[in-house]
Amino acid sequence: MPLVNAKDMLIKAMEGKYAVGQFNINNLEWTKSILLTAEELKAPVILGVSEGAGKYMCGYKTVVGMVKGMIEELNITVPVALHLDHGSFEGAKACIKAGFSSIMFDGSHYPIEENIEKTKILVNTCEVLGLSLEAEVGSIGGEEDGVVGMGECADPAECKQIADLGVTMLAAGIGNIHGKYPENWPGLSFDTLEAVKNTVGDVPLVLHGGTGIPEDQIKKAISLGVAKINVNTECQLAFQEATRAYIEAGKDQQGKGFDPRKLLAPGAQAIRDMVKTKMEIFGCIGKAE
Ligand code: 13P
Repeated sequence: MPLVNAKDMLIKAMEGKYAVGQFNINNLEWTKSILLTAEELKAPVILGVSEGAGKYMCGYKTVVGMVKGMIEELNITVPVALHLDHGSFEGAKACIKAGFSSIMFDGSHYPIEENIEKTKILVNTCEVLGLSLEAEVGSIGGEEDGVVGMGECADPAECKQIADLGVTMLAAGIGNIHGKYPENWPGLSFDTLEAVKNTVGDVPLVLHGGTGIPEDQIKKAISLGVAKINVNTECQLAFQEATRAYIEAGKDQQGKGFDPRKLLAPGAQAIRDMVKTKMEIFGCIGKAE
């Protein structure tokens, strides 16, 4: 199946009260693990690419080539969207040109008027080209220079202004943060989520910072309109732990010499296990059948 935009899968998820997983990719092994797991579990999937990961993987055209090649060579039949994660305005334009099927423009750090202005331009472009577009209001917290922000809550009125532009999906800050949650994290703000949902209506909502949110809070968020959940750090941690265990067991020293395929295999398997666990929680297994 060719790359698809994320619109249909998210509308179905919102109506069916489950969420599609966005798993961020960083290299070939991660991409392969996520695609194989989605296919095995018959789940639609979104591959997220940050601008940094895009650069690391030799640019957006390389990413598009790799993902399209894998979909064909691995006989992936479930819907797959290739999505820019937290894109800048310039990054969004570059990914559109390179052949991504879905774009996130993160204008949350701009004054709302500028966020609206830039998002509007991209809504028009994506509409013409048949791509899906995610916008953000109320920045998602996370670690910056060692300081962990608690996550801002979006203003529902601003969410409506952005949603009304015709975006496919909306990321609204509800106290969620990227990376590991601090001990004193107060949890998701369901009051904010409900208020946002009530003002934006039928636009699927996106929950960033899917690492470490307790299962009951994820399920409640889905019941209140979240149809896409992003996971990155948890895959990184799983990959790191499995690779470290393999090296510490001295297994990389066995055989004729250094074999990157063997060294990376436990990490790749750990990502498959992690994706499966998340998909079970999100309820998206079997939804591509
Ligand atoms: P985590 O790294 O916390 O899983 O968040 C991922 C994310 O939201 C990417 O946009």
